[in-house]
Amino acid sequence: MNLLARLRDRTRPYHEAVELQLGLPERPWSADRYRALLRRFLGYYDPLEGRIEAAADWSELGFDWPRRRKTPLLQRDLLSVGDAPDVVAGLPRCADLPDVEGLPQALGCLYVLEGATLGGRVVARHLSGIPGLAGGAGFSFFSSYGDEVGPMWRAFGEFLSTWANSGDETIIKVACETFTTLGRWLRGMESECAAGA
Ligand code: HEM
Repeated sequence: MNLLARLRDRTRPYHEAVELQLGLPERPWSADRYRALLRRFLGYYDPLEGRIEAAADWSELGFDWPRRRKTPLLQRDLLSVGDAPDVVAGLPRCADLPDVEGLPQALGCLYVLEGATLGGRVVARHLSGIPGLAGGAGFSFFSSYGDEVGPMWRAFGEFLSTWANSGDETIIKVACETFTTLGRWLRGMESECAAGA
């Protein structure tokens, strides 16, 4: 089994858990709940992407990191759904994140963040019917690379196999940690929503 297949296999239970947690089909989604979800994702992606960015010289490795970053998409979506820039800047950031000391750890995180673009299209389609969010604005995070999702994922797979070297177990371990820390962080949204935030 190649590394990508092993990653899929070993992280499957975590993926299922996070999918269940988001509970897209079962829940009635409102514009407020969607905004709460975007805020929560920003609070996770922003600091984690900071760690990923610092972990390697991406341009030296031939990886187009600026194009891969999702934080700008989340910021844009939050502005589209009505958050002011100072609100976005002041949102809580997650501190319970994987340690990203070097390339193998960064690749483990990137597997999860890049893989999320595959399911993102399903999510965007599902949520685009929320009343008050018509017109397609506010979905740039879940739509990510648009028609380029497939090619971007394949290019990531090639990058991963080129640079994984002997770090496979670390990459898998950090991918699992990325899912579990994200799951914990997203659980905080439930209490915020229950409290009417
Ligand atoms: C309700 C929410 C979600 C749904 C419905 C969903 C759905 C999917 C689907 C359908 C795929 C496979 C796409 C394909 O093979 O073309 C996929 C892949 C993936 N998703 Fe999700 N997803 C969700 C949330 C997430 C989240 C929040 C993350 C992590 C941040 C995530 C990470 C991944 C990863 C890493 C893969 C790649 C698996 C692989 O092929 O190695 N997903 N998702």
